[in-house]
Amino acid sequence: MERVILQRKSIYTGSLILVNRTYSFAGEDAEDLEPVKSGTSDIFMWHRAAILLSRLMGKINGWQKIIPVSGWRSLKEQQKIWEDSLAESGREFTEKYVACPGHSEHQTGLAIDLGLKQENIDFICPDFPYKGICQTFRQKAMEYGFIERYPSGKEKITGIGHEPWHFRYVGVPHAMIMTQESLTLEEYISFIKDFPYGRRTYAFNQNGVRAFISYLKAGEEKTTVLEVDSRFPYMISGNNVDGFILTQYGISKND
Ligand code: DAL
Ligand code: ZN
Repeated sequence: MERVILQRKSIYTGSLILVNRTYSFAGEDAEDLEPVKSGTSDIFMWHRAAILLSRLMGKINGWQKIIPVSGWRSLKEQQKIWEDSLAESGREFTEKYVACPGHSEHQTGLAIDLGLKQENIDFICPDFPYKGICQTFRQKAMEYGFIERYPSGKEKITGIGHEPWHFRYVGVPHAMIMTQESLTLEEYISFIKDFPYGRRTYAFNQNGVRAFISYLKAGEEKTTVLEVDSRFPYMISGNNVDGFILTQYGISKND
């Protein structure tokens, strides 16, 4: 076993952070950004998300018909998009399709808007239909750690209108669980709290991916300590709310 010491501020970093109307992005800037597509230097994501997106696109030959529309945005950029949209389309539309500055997933480097390649592409609401190559992308997305973040019917939970074009990297197996159980990130963050570290774990075993997931509430102190089985790979992410999510891979109760 290995002792891991987590700083309280790490709550605000990691691929599972919940950024929405309630929880702002506390990071100053996203780190380790990379262009999502070689040859395009103006659309970036966090490097691991960019790598997985490119693997998925390679698998389905997606870049032939799909273009990246918007990836990482600075706070300043989000502010400008918000203000331009308010001026051009009004408050109702803007609140539905643009996160207020400081509260956008795009600031994290974990989100990407995709559009079907065509002559006119709407920057705020690109066309990404539920058919053809776009649907193929959508169906494969969870295997590469991506979720459709703002589904129809969940607008009250996400606080954002239905956005068929916006995908969020959360990693595997989280994307698979959320997609299969129809959980938004908001719902998943609550759901996983039923699996408190040291007492219960959520076991996932599918398509050769085996993982145990648990939630650890951050203490009042500056640091939180946990023991992990370091014989296996693990990932710890903050939830941007009040604690951490621990994912241990390739381990079963009998290992
Ligand atoms: N369109 C999404 C909600 C954003 O602006 O972050
Ligand atoms: Zn988006």
